[in-house]
Amino acid sequence: RTVYVNGEYLPEDQAQVSIFDRGFLMADGVYEVVSVLDGKMIDFDGHLVRLKRSLSELSITNPLSDEDYLAAHRELVARNGIGDGLVYLQVTRGNPGDRDFAYPPADTVPTVVMFTQAKPGLADAPAARTGWKVVSVEDLRWGRRDIKTVQLLYPSMAKMEAKARGVDDAWMVEDGKVTEGTSNNAYIVKDGTIVTRELSHDILHGITRAAVLRFAQEAQMKVEERAFTIAEAQEADEAFVTSASAFVMPVVEIDGAAVGSGTVGPVAKRLREIYIEESR
Ligand code: PDD
Repeated sequence: RTVYVNGEYLPEDQAQVSIFDRGFLMADGVYEVVSVLDGKMIDFDGHLVRLKRSLSELSITNPLSDEDYLAAHRELVARNGIGDGLVYLQVTRGNPGDRDFAYPPADTVPTVVMFTQAKPGLADAPAARTGWKVVSVEDLRWGRRDIKTVQLLYPSMAKMEAKARGVDDAWMVEDGKVTEGTSNNAYIVKDGTIVTRELSHDILHGITRAAVLRFAQEAQMKVEERAFTIAEAQEADEAFVTSASAFVMPVVEIDGAAVGSGTVGPVAKRLREIYIEESR
């Protein structure tokens, strides 16, 4: 693979970042994941807007122009021959040359890293036909989940908990209500109404979420933005998650209880089709 590091395109085994990089020592950085279908990026502009917001919330200087980010994404997709896949982008506060809790001077140059992941057949994931099983875990993350930081240890632990329990993902719960999946936004469908948690500091403001809610409304589906419990989800007709990498993924079982018929429901199926259709 060819990867991008601070303005250079290099073979992945030649790319280097300092051991003093704040991203490495402090998880002091933010990221974005943009999916690519048939060589075309989905919602690039939305991801760029969120990247800039994440940087600004953490007072990290935005090192590149919008045009530079776009050009680098396109360059990596082309150089790596990505048809279906992802582009990962990470910006950290950079390398102050030593370890210190205080931020380094504002003129410290941020570190920018980008790489691609090939995912042939991304839109035809077999899991979308059977749906995911999830288990609930307590949400032990920090309080600013709207900032897309690289501090992913807890979601990673939750994913391992899910795997250990023989399922696909975990839904995190805080004060009795579902916040989101380990790396996706969570939804239920009851009597034709799509329910998903409202935007706040408690969840990531998913770019796929915004697109899917827009498509749902355009298709005259009812949407309610509010938090829900695991019990409510288990009694729903359908459940699903959304993210740049999973698109719309049906959820058919929660903590061992089948959701609705226990198979992929019509709303999740339809929204997945619309999302892929509109993104192509
Ligand atoms: N994750 N919630 C969390 C906690 C996430 O990590 C993500 C994305 C989402 C969905 O956001 P979007 O629709 O903008 O992808 C929600 C990415 C895909 C990842 O970490 O790989």
